[in-house]
Amino acid sequence: MRSVKFNVPFLTGNEKDYVNEVFDSQEFSGNGEFTKRVQNMLEEILGAERVLLTHSCTGALELAALLSGFGPGDEVLVPSYTFVTSASSVMRTGATPVFCEVDEHTMLLDLDDLESKINSNTKGIVAVDYAGFGNDYTRVNQICKEHNLVCIQDSAQGLGAQWNAQPLSTHTRFGAISFHQTKNIHSGLGGCLVINNAEDVEKAEMVWERGTNRSAFFKGLVDKYNWQVVGSSFYPSELQAAFLCAQLERLDENISLRLKLWNCYERLLKPIEEEGYLRILREPSGCEHNAHMLAIMLPNPSEADRLRIHLNENGIQAVIHYVPLHESPVGSELGYDPESLPVTSRAAASLIRLPLHLSMDEEDIEYIVRILQEFYPPHD
Ligand SMILES: Cc1ncc(COP(=O)(O)O)c(C=O)c1O
Repeated sequence: MRSVKFNVPFLTGNEKDYVNEVFDSQEFSGNGEFTKRVQNMLEEILGAERVLLTHSCTGALELAALLSGFGPGDEVLVPSYTFVTSASSVMRTGATPVFCEVDEHTMLLDLDDLESKINSNTKGIVAVDYAGFGNDYTRVNQICKEHNLVCIQDSAQGLGAQWNAQPLSTHTRFGAISFHQTKNIHSGLGGCLVINNAEDVEKAEMVWERGTNRSAFFKGLVDKYNWQVVGSSFYPSELQAAFLCAQLERLDENISLRLKLWNCYERLLKPIEEEGYLRILREPSGCEHNAHMLAIMLPNPSEADRLRIHLNENGIQAVIHYVPLHESPVGSELGYDPESLPVTSRAAASLIRLPLHLSMDEEDIEYIVRILQEFYPPHD
């Protein structure tokens, strides 16, 4: 039986050479030449004010939450359908996440529901760019302006995607990107904070540098460095930065090859979609996605379960995605009932992700669609 893995990490072949350069330099610990090079590359790709590499997107979200000034008594609006750390990063500051519904067509924040949850304690929003699809940032930024909120753009999956012709992670005050090995471009683990306002740069560099002004010291701006603010150790080692450098050099090629696979899926799945059996999750208008994910929405959770099992039994590693946070044990501690966000619960349980990575080819997709068709014979 053919087998198709859900994900195989992307490799360019140059990673080892770049990592060897770190061995030659004997500078392993971080914030060295490769870190600077990669940060510059990302600043250019994103057109961002400043980019700081972090050990993970989780680290970038925690850094952003600290810089946003959230604290005890504050509420921050977060989609329930997201990865755990979109919400736990907020809780690390003492603030409380308030879960919002997502729109079942895109799995992005339902901004009507979000607006209905704003009160005098609301201090921020974590807007998640699910699947490399962008939220409506014109409206998000209007809401922030009207209610004096800070928005952190969780673009964990968003490198290389755009909303309104502008890279994801650059539409709000802070952005966060992941370089976990499941992402299009990776360094095993890794991430970055994207800083979009010049006024945030100095403090961000201190919080990132364990709370010190070591970055200013390296730039020759002070003659010794010391403790300035409460920070932490947020950056990765040079080994990861070197690995990431090799990957980033191939970003455009990576995305165009992924898009080819995504478009092949779309072409082959369309007849099944037109029969009404499933819906391909597509980006909203104004968005150019990065083919991070091919997700399909089934009519209901039990059909999604049955189809996923059928695919798995045929060697295809189709998987679910996030279990909504309001349904989790921590969600329950926060006072949520599993039934409290019904649109999100139903959509999350009806969604399946299909394999998408650069170690597969169009024949794999033809096989996957053939197995899907067995489950869904065409109507007469
Ligand atoms: C939306 C979202 N935010 C944050 C993260 C955390 O990323 P990392 O694993 O790099 O910490 C993920 C992980 O996949 C994610 O999907």
